[in-house]
Amino acid sequence: VLILGLLALISYLLGSIPTGYLLAKALRGIDIREHGSGSTGATNVLRVVGKGPGLVTFLVDVGKGLGAVLLARWVLGQSWSTVPASWLEFVLLAIAFIAVLAHSKPVWLGWRGGKSVATGLGVLLALNAPTALATFAVFLVVLAVSRIVSLSSITAAISLPFWFWFFTQSWPFIGFSVIAGAFVIWRHQTNIQRLLAGTEPRLGTPISEG
Ligand code: G3P
Repeated sequence: VLILGLLALISYLLGSIPTGYLLAKALRGIDIREHGSGSTGATNVLRVVGKGPGLVTFLVDVGKGLGAVLLARWVLGQSWSTVPASWLEFVLLAIAFIAVLAHSKPVWLGWRGGKSVATGLGVLLALNAPTALATFAVFLVVLAVSRIVSLSSITAAISLPFWFWFFTQSWPFIGFSVIAGAFVIWRHQTNIQRLLAGTEPRLGTPISEG
């Protein structure tokens, strides 16, 4: 139980590292949450600060999710190699969800973070790489066609349970993907409102404030 608690805490701490916020603060001296979409994620860093910082935010945020799950898998493999695989699966999925949640709800920033897309991709890479790559491919295809990041993220999140079913046929994974996907979509509420109103910006265009 102690190890599980520690893993959950480490996962939260990793997931809540506010990469985008710190980069925007360091490079521009601004609070990114007051600019663009108000998100601390890579898309908003790209929009407000620039391409390089946006890419760094994306990579670090993917790394946070990947690292949290890989660390948990390694620790659990070390200490409880006799635990049934199905039980380990549930623990890993819980750890993965905590990292995803932490990116969106960092205690350091008054619970106002990003939308957990990059961190979500990171945990997927650790949980099941084919699912991660297929989901990312959906994201890229929608992005290439629409040039709208939020629409691409939402479509990818909707496709996630299908890919988990296709590649794993594992019900815990499919259940996780429904919950995590719903969480990511819920984080895009303002984007959905703008999409419906036809005002969601395409890549390279600023968000009209107010
Ligand atoms: O990864 C988040 C993306 O889907 C939307 O970001 O800043 O346009 O709300 P943003």
